Amino acid sequence: MTYAAAVLRRCDDLAAFSEEQGRLTRRFATPALWQAGETVGEWMEAAGMAVRRDAIGNLIGRLGDAERRTLLIGSHLDTVRDAGRYDGTLGVLVAIGCLERLRDQGRSLPHAVEVVAFADEEGTRYGTSYLGSRAFVGCFEQEWLERRDADGVKMREALSAVGGSPEGIAGCRREPEDLIGYYEVHIEQGPALESQDLSLGVVTAIAGQTGATVTFSGVAGHAGTVPMSLRRDALTAAAEWILAAETLARGQDGLVATAGRLTLGPGVGNVIPGRAELSLDLRHAEDSVRIRAGAELRRRAEAIAASRGVEVEWRSHETAAVSLSPELTEHLAKAVVASGRPVVRLPSGAGHDAAIVSMIAPAAMLFVRCAGGVSHNPAESVTVGDVAAAIDVTTRFLESVR
Ligand code: GLV
Ligand code: MN
Ligand code: MN
Repeated sequence: MTYAAAVLRRCDDLAAFSEEQGRLTRRFATPALWQAGETVGEWMEAAGMAVRRDAIGNLIGRLGDAERRTLLIGSHLDTVRDAGRYDGTLGVLVAIGCLERLRDQGRSLPHAVEVVAFADEEGTRYGTSYLGSRAFVGCFEQEWLERRDADGVKMREALSAVGGSPEGIAGCRREPEDLIGYYEVHIEQGPALESQDLSLGVVTAIAGQTGATVTFSGVAGHAGTVPMSLRRDALTAAAEWILAAETLARGQDGLVATAGRLTLGPGVGNVIPGRAELSLDLRHAEDSVRIRAGAELRRRAEAIAASRGVEVEWRSHETAAVSLSPELTEHLAKAVVASGRPVVRLPSGAGHDAAIVSMIAPAAMLFVRCAGGVSHNPAESVTVGDVAAAIDVTTRFLESVR
């Protein structure tokens, strides 16, 4: 079997590690994610790596003496709900495949390599993305441990239950001086490469992101007796605001706004919704545009709430846009040229662990075409030829970086 075929076979194998029967859901600090990590750890060991977990649950396989400076290469193993099998996973498995290929060919690298499978890129469980890479760079906020998931389980308890160590998170932090850089292979999750008939793209930047939880609170009441004019319906306020967000995003080039989660209280057919809690995901390549849009949407939420006699609460966090390292990206572009392929550069609208790791190390990313640009969807798909191209370029990149 080729290395690329083996990577795809492993992506299939890992798709069996899921919290839910019949679909792939592997959120932070769940047994499904931990067990997927155990299997990946076995593959790392078989490839000659020394394997460990850090306190937040990042899985790390190292090749090379302790005193050597280290090139990090990784991605994540957690997923969204009802996910595809390549988002994150592909990058981890391509990294292992490249090291296996180098070993089989008797080639060694001039530096140490660590393959890192991050524990939480998606933020699906606790609404805070990048928990794994944030711990890795030392910007994990201890108060997050008190957050609860939708079932009321505290992050602290969930992490302890699977074998992590909430008390040890500060120790996940890596020293920038030890690191040469960070490199990540990821599916594009958009249609640009496919539309240009390209296997691979070199990533220039990662869009910034605002994540907000917006809660409208009105008055629950009887659906048959409360006249329309006297209602304080939280959901109709939320609905008006979601449409306002869509209109705003449509009117601004490159701005995207998504309300992907909506929870109603009490959520019963014959009761006027007294509470509507929803998520906002707002992104743009330029932080100033995103920040202005976020402020405008908050004003709109307040105005809509006031006009409908309901209250609104707004909680948000953000990740700034990140430019990837020009130097490391130049190495990557040369590896693409050496592989006989054109260098096409593109920004990422999706978030990646590279955005966080770039706080402590120069970062570069390679995108792999995915069918129809479809991602965050079980229909995610890549070709064996494109994965082979990613392995070829990555191997050249690993050998060229000093
Ligand atoms: C991660 O997949 C994100 O961009 O939301
Ligand atoms: Mn994702
Ligand atoms: Mn991802």
